Amino acid sequence: MREKRVLVTGSCGLIGSEVCLHFHRAGYSVIGLDNNQRAVFFGPEGDTSWSLDRLRTNIPGYEHHEIDMRDRERVLRLVENKRPTVIVHTAAQPSHDRAAQIPFDDFDTNAVGTLNLLEGARRWSPESPFLHMSTNKVYGDRPNALALVEKETRWDYADPEFRAGIPESFSIDQSLHSLFGASKAASDLLVQEYGRYFNMPTCALRGGCLTGPNHSGVELHGFLSYLIRCNLIGKEYKVFGYKGKQVRDNIHSEDVAHFMLAFAQRPRCGEVYNLGGGLDNSCSILEAFSLAEEVTERAQVWTYLDTPRMGGHICYYSDLTNMQAHYPEWSITRSLNDTIREIADSWSSRLATMHSV
Ligand SMILES: NC(=O)c1ccc[n+]([C@@H]2O[C@H](COP(=O)([O-])OP(=O)(O)OC[C@H]3O[C@@H](n4cnc5c(N)ncnc54)[C@H](O)[C@@H]3O)[C@@H](O)[C@H]2O)c1
Repeated sequence: MREKRVLVTGSCGLIGSEVCLHFHRAGYSVIGLDNNQRAVFFGPEGDTSWSLDRLRTNIPGYEHHEIDMRDRERVLRLVENKRPTVIVHTAAQPSHDRAAQIPFDDFDTNAVGTLNLLEGARRWSPESPFLHMSTNKVYGDRPNALALVEKETRWDYADPEFRAGIPESFSIDQSLHSLFGASKAASDLLVQEYGRYFNMPTCALRGGCLTGPNHSGVELHGFLSYLIRCNLIGKEYKVFGYKGKQVRDNIHSEDVAHFMLAFAQRPRCGEVYNLGGGLDNSCSILEAFSLAEEVTERAQVWTYLDTPRMGGHICYYSDLTNMQAHYPEWSITRSLNDTIREIADSWSSRLATMHSV
């Protein structure tokens, strides 16, 4: 039988590290690619070297390659040498806000890096399922044009057509995306195109808020993780506009990895799915404060700024109907409360270690 080998880019990040562990448990040998670029994008708070140690400890035979996704020759050579049977692409500049300060790094990593990997896959592993982490920011600020109702602690869609959330058929065109949304839309289209044009088993997953205990959340990326970290250390959390009632749907990284394995086992070509917590695991920032306070028993310190983040969604939650119809064996296993508890536990022990050094 052919050895099952997964190549995971961004292997030290939130999603990448979870995918490495999940596929290892499913009997895959794991090849990771990550150059700790997160520490360059976000400074020492974004450093993921602790995560590399964790992978080395928990995955016997874990093979790590410190390669930059922008280094076309090295990315192509890695795929040629390893011929992975599954490719999971999670390496990215992940911040909506940071992209405007580093437009070349953002586009070269997100769009060109994805092209480098897709082309490696087409040349040497064309039959291997190729999963790409895309984002709901490909829809730009178009969801903000939907009619909304204001509830006591959150915004919601007024139109019953969107009761289950935003579907994949929602337009990605003619809206404000941020440079990040544009570079991710480019990579999302490339992934679809390699599926449809070359008949490769590719899939773009348009993430809502992906989270979990292994996130190195920072102000510019990783909303729940950062919010809980602020709660625990008494740091002021800044709310940008929309009365703090803006809604995000949150999904535990393990549920993301679980879906990726389901797709790898029964792939389809050129698919796109919205992947978030859906309505059940959605919350506004105000609601997230209350949930965090219940878990940590500490008051959230926060301040309100009138100006919303450019292009930020007022209300977004994913319609999961398509992925559940195609993969009925998959479902969300972690409630929002469970996820918040896990994040708080993880930050508590990581912060204790930081303070003891
Ligand atoms: N976390 C979220 O809320 C969220 C939401 C929607 C979409 N996504 C997407 O999911 C994917 C994973 O997100 P995440 O939260 O795990 O991000 P993350 O920042 O935790 O992980 C990304 C990893 O990629 C690595 N990386 C970045 N640039 C690289 C480069 N040029 N070469 C090699 N490695 C590089 C980083 O060092 C980091 O470890 C990204 O594509 C992101 O856009 C994330």
